[in-house]
Amino acid sequence: MFFKKKRKIDYDLDMTNIPKHIAFIMDGNGRWAKKRKMPRTYGHHEGTKTIRTLALEANRLGVKAMTVYAFSTENFKRDASEVEYIFKLPKEFFNLYLKELMDNDVQIRYIGHLEMAPIETQKIIKDAIAQTAQNHGLILTFAFIYGGRDEIIEATKDICEQYKNGHITLEDITEDYFERHLMTKDLPPVDLMVRSSGECRLSNFLLWQLAYAEFVFDETLWPDFDEERLHHAIAIYQGRERRFGGVLK
Ligand code: IPE
Ligand code: IPE
Ligand code: MG
Repeated sequence: MFFKKKRKIDYDLDMTNIPKHIAFIMDGNGRWAKKRKMPRTYGHHEGTKTIRTLALEANRLGVKAMTVYAFSTENFKRDASEVEYIFKLPKEFFNLYLKELMDNDVQIRYIGHLEMAPIETQKIIKDAIAQTAQNHGLILTFAFIYGGRDEIIEATKDICEQYKNGHITLEDITEDYFERHLMTKDLPPVDLMVRSSGECRLSNFLLWQLAYAEFVFDETLWPDFDEERLHHAIAIYQGRERRFGGVLK
């Protein structure tokens, strides 16, 4: 029997400075598959295993929230067959891992336009959210059919409605108030954003929320991203000096 050898994780993490919220742009599934002369969908299939691995490890480290970018509003530009395949992945993911995530007290949440997904996909995701709603461990949020610009426009529309109906005045529209209209309103601020596959851009992810996050861009393709890479990203985060516009004394 062949067992994959686990790499040693030797980053000396400061357990008092673990990021509360880590957001991942899960990129490189297609290239990972292409390197193996396999269809892009195989990369997406393998990429779901990484979500499970990282969620369990993040939970173990005491990370409060982990948000994963699974499908952008722009990803509809892809071939219909690839989009259809991606929409089937939540079922595969939760069938395989929901019980284990439940056992580890992980709470599932969602941001994006769920109503645009096939009914079956909607149901699977809603069931996972309902089943895990009382859990108190890691909050694992799927950004699925999500776009940062769209989120800001949706929030703006909500706020305009409130103003039009006379519920608020212009002075009520503060940064805090605006934030409370974003899809992430119940999540802690994002401390660390990690993008795999070497691309250095946001691709419309959490545009408002990433204003003061630390960014780590890792060359690893998403299906190969593992606990060791997570520790590496956290170690880089811990080496950074966060200033939030001020001056460190
Ligand atoms: C990320 O991998 C997954 C999604 C965007 C759904 P990609 O599919 O973008 O993989 P590459 O970037 O083509 O390698
Ligand atoms: C960003 O990756 C979207 C997700 C990871 C879901 P893309 O692969 O779609 O981004 P671009 O097109 O390279 O910017
Ligand atoms: Mg990509």
